[in-house]
Amino acid sequence: MTILDGKQTSTNIKNELKEEVQLRKEKGLKAPHLAAVIVGNDGASMTYVSSKVKACDFVGYDSTLIELPSETTEEELLNQISDLNNNPDIDGFIVQLPLPKHIDEQKVLLAVDPDKDVDGFHPTNVGKMTLNLSTFLPATPYGILELLERYEVETSGKNVVVIGRSHIVGSPMSILMSQKRPAGNATVTITHSRTKNLTEITREADIIVAALGKAEFLTGDMVKDGVTIIDVGITRVEDASKKRGYRLAGDVDFASVSPKAEFITPVPGGVGPMTIAMLLKNTMLACQRRND
Ligand code: GUN
Repeated sequence: MTILDGKQTSTNIKNELKEEVQLRKEKGLKAPHLAAVIVGNDGASMTYVSSKVKACDFVGYDSTLIELPSETTEEELLNQISDLNNNPDIDGFIVQLPLPKHIDEQKVLLAVDPDKDVDGFHPTNVGKMTLNLSTFLPATPYGILELLERYEVETSGKNVVVIGRSHIVGSPMSILMSQKRPAGNATVTITHSRTKNLTEITREADIIVAALGKAEFLTGDMVKDGVTIIDVGITRVEDASKKRGYRLAGDVDFASVSPKAEFITPVPGGVGPMTIAMLLKNTMLACQRRND
């Protein structure tokens, strides 16, 4: 069993980007500048956003964190997005999801300039991705492709089962892995909460991407020997023995699945850090497109 070490791989990618920033500075070119908007004070979202800002510092990017109160109106948020679209120093920005219920997420994502949409969530960029045209790939699926590629996990002709159909992970993952591309060319099945006989399907899978957001859902009896497991889940589970009162659990029951796996991502330290590294990669691409 080989651990797909997202922490180490993301550090390698960040070091590559850091060198690229150095080279840019030596040539008198600007460093990439990422902005992140967060509305409200959801604990997990705040942790993710502060990790993104910290990662910018590590690689030498400029970053701007815009924290808005949970009562922010849709109009105020749209105005903020318009300012970021028009600010020539900002190369790319993200609006952390989920948003408070009174704000229409689709309206917000549509307002982001597609050329600054480093999350790859704008319909223009989703369309380009679907057509396998050059664009910003959504960071989590992009990170999974990169991890599979760097560990040389064979995907061509393999049976891939994706569990979960979210717009952020499950849906783009299924599209990307079926395409003619590195870490692609797979035969992909996308499954979700209405899928019948899920275990029959997962038992046939060479590669499983678990992205449904249910702690320790995928168990050893649901997979075959030699499977590759990508665990996207990261749920806070109450745990009185921890100082912070919770532990982080993936969608995969690591204890029962890992003995059967050829490759497996841990939680934490698997997909999570890769997501951040790929957001930085998209921001570098945005900066190059805008300024070079
Ligand atoms: N919420 C969960 N994942 C993501 C992500 O990749 N980007 C943004 N903006 N919000 C998220």
